[in-house]
Amino acid sequence: MRNEMMQHTIVKKELIEFMRTKQKQLSGTLGQIEKEAHKEDVPIIQHETVVFLQFLLKQLQPKNILEIGTAIGFSSSLMAQFVGKTGKVTTIERMDIMLKKAKETYRRLNLQEKVHLLEGEAEELLKVLPTNKYDFVFMDSAKAKYIIFLPKVLKVMKKGAVLMIDDVFQAGSVLDDIKDIPQGKRAIHRGLNKLLEVVLPHSDLTSTLLPLGDGVLLIAKEKEIIKF
Ligand SMILES: C[S@@+](CC[C@H](N)C(=O)[O-])C[C@H]1O[C@@H](n2cnc3c(N)ncnc32)[C@H](O)[C@@H]1O
Repeated sequence: MRNEMMQHTIVKKELIEFMRTKQKQLSGTLGQIEKEAHKEDVPIIQHETVVFLQFLLKQLQPKNILEIGTAIGFSSSLMAQFVGKTGKVTTIERMDIMLKKAKETYRRLNLQEKVHLLEGEAEELLKVLPTNKYDFVFMDSAKAKYIIFLPKVLKVMKKGAVLMIDDVFQAGSVLDDIKDIPQGKRAIHRGLNKLLEVVLPHSDLTSTLLPLGDGVLLIAKEKEIIKF
């Protein structure tokens, strides 16, 4: 799969290069998996997002993490390092080829007990996950669906939990007029605009946008029940 996000840079090229090369690198097998993924153009999170996730999860110390969009299991393996002895990462993926690769990643890292891989469509699986369970959710799947997943994701999150959503800027085109967006990208454009429109002013959600990778939206759930 081609990694389109390599071209989706929203910060000056030199700064991106600096963030990717001068911040601490991953060691061992996980570092190897990150390099292999970039070489094969697998769309895993960029290194600046890796470093940010490490920083954030170290502070948050989540017990239960949910991820939507596993791919080869890179970010879920990274997050599994921050859930302590008893914590778990649950991750959702629908593509057979990715599921196979993710299982291989967990085997290589000996994470089979720590990461629970759910196979199937996120929209369906989100309906059966327990409510008020997760301390941290990382949403990194089909961009047009973020807004559809949002109410269900908020239900499975504990009060005070944090949701991190990746790739919300689409290389800045999220701000363009829909007329200038190619037909095939309009669903993503509409979905992301709706997401930002709903989340940013919401009184029960604290949110912040970060120019990391192709844009990150961080949301804290401030109430038990979030109404839209
Ligand atoms: C950007 S990749 C995830 C990368 C991964 N989080 C990482 O950084 O290592 C997105 C993945 O989400 C999966 N995906 C997209 N929409 C999905 C959906 N509705 N249900 C389940 N999986 C989905 C795709 O098959 C793809 O493998």
